[in-house]
Amino acid sequence: MQRNTLGNTGLEVGPLCIGTSTLAGFTETYGYDVDDERAVETVLAVFDSEVNYLDTGNNYGKDGLAERRVGEAIRRRGGLPEGFVLQTKVDADPVTGDYSGARVRRSLEESLERLGVDHLPVLALHDPEFMSADQDGFGPGGALEALVAIRDEGIADHLAVASGSVEVTQRYLDTGAFDVVLNHNRFTLLNREAQDLFEGARDKGLGVLNAAPYGGGMLVKGPAQQPKYCYGERDEAFAASALAMAEACEAAGVPLAAAALQFSTRSPLVDSTVVGISRPERIRETLALLAVEIPPALWVELESLRPDARI
Ligand SMILES: NC(=O)c1ccc[n+]([C@@H]2O[C@H](COP(=O)([O-])OP(=O)(O)OC[C@H]3O[C@@H](n4cnc5c(N)ncnc54)[C@H](OP(=O)(O)O)[C@@H]3O)[C@@H](O)[C@H]2O)c1
Repeated sequence: MQRNTLGNTGLEVGPLCIGTSTLAGFTETYGYDVDDERAVETVLAVFDSEVNYLDTGNNYGKDGLAERRVGEAIRRRGGLPEGFVLQTKVDADPVTGDYSGARVRRSLEESLERLGVDHLPVLALHDPEFMSADQDGFGPGGALEALVAIRDEGIADHLAVASGSVEVTQRYLDTGAFDVVLNHNRFTLLNREAQDLFEGARDKGLGVLNAAPYGGGMLVKGPAQQPKYCYGERDEAFAASALAMAEACEAAGVPLAAAALQFSTRSPLVDSTVVGISRPERIRETLALLAVEIPPALWVELESLRPDARI
C-alpha cells in the first residue's frame, strides 16, 4: 500500500486510517452494538493488514471501552506491528466536564494504561468545541499547556486537533503547537465545510486526516439504513442527495461507498482518511472499494447532486 508523509511529522501513513468510535458501544449513534470479541477481532484484522494507522479516543465508550478493546488486541498480538501509528485523544472528564490541564494529564494516563503503551506518535485534543465556557483551553493550567508539556517530555511525538468545528480547530492551529489536523464529516461527497481548513493546514505543512468519509454511515449503508448524517437527526436534504448519488453510482456500476471513500483518498488535501468499522471483513471490503475504477464523468455528476447544488 502507498504511504503518505503525514505533513511535517515525518510519519509514513497509509491512505486509510481505521477509526474506533464504532467499537465503543455507541448504539444510538450507529444503530447497533458490537461485542468484545468482534471488536478485538476487528482490530487484529487491522494489524494483519496493510493498514498502519489506527485512531481511538479516551471517551470512546463507557470507561474507555474502545481503548480497552484496542489494548486487548495489542496484548494478544504481543505489541503493535512494526511501523504502526497508534493515535488517541485526550478528553474532558466524562462526569464533571473538567477539561483542565490536570484532566488532560489524567486522560493521557488512562489511555496509556488501557492501551498498554508508554508512548504515542500522535496525541489529539478531542472536540475542544464542547469545552464549557468557564474553561480556558489556551490559558495557564489549560489543555494546550498540558499537551505541549506532554510532547516536550517525549510521551507524544506530535499533537493534533481532532474536532468537527472548523472555527475552534483553526484557533488551536493558529497557536503553532499542532502538527496534525483531524476534521470529521465535513469533507465528503455531501459536505465541504472543512475544505478551507484543510487547504490552510496544507499550506502550513500540517498533516491532514479526514474522518468519517461516509458521514457516519449514510454513504456506505445508504440513507434508508443510516438516515442520520454526522450522528444527528435525520437530514432530508442530505438523504435525498445521497439517494440521487446512489442511483448515479449504480448506473455507472460503481458502489456509492467507493465514490465516497475515494473522494477523500484521492484528494491532495488529505494524507489519510479515517474510516470507522466494526467487523474484520471490512478491511478487505474497504481495500476493494479503494481499487474501484471511477469514470471521470461520474465525479462531475456527483458534484451536481450535492445538497447545496440541488437547492
Ligand atoms: N471528533 C473526532 O475526533 C472524530 C469525530 C468523528 C469520527 N472520528 C474518527 O473517525 C472515524 C470514522 O468516523 P465514523 O466511524 O463515525 O464514520 P464513517 O467512517 O463515515 O462511517 C462508519 C460507518 O460506516 C460503516 N462501514 C464502513 N465500511 C463499511 C462497509 N465496507 N460496508 C458497510 N458498512 C461500512 C460502519 O459500519 P460497520 O460498523 O458495520 O463496519 C459504520 O457504521 C471514527 O471511528 C473515529 O475514529 C473522530
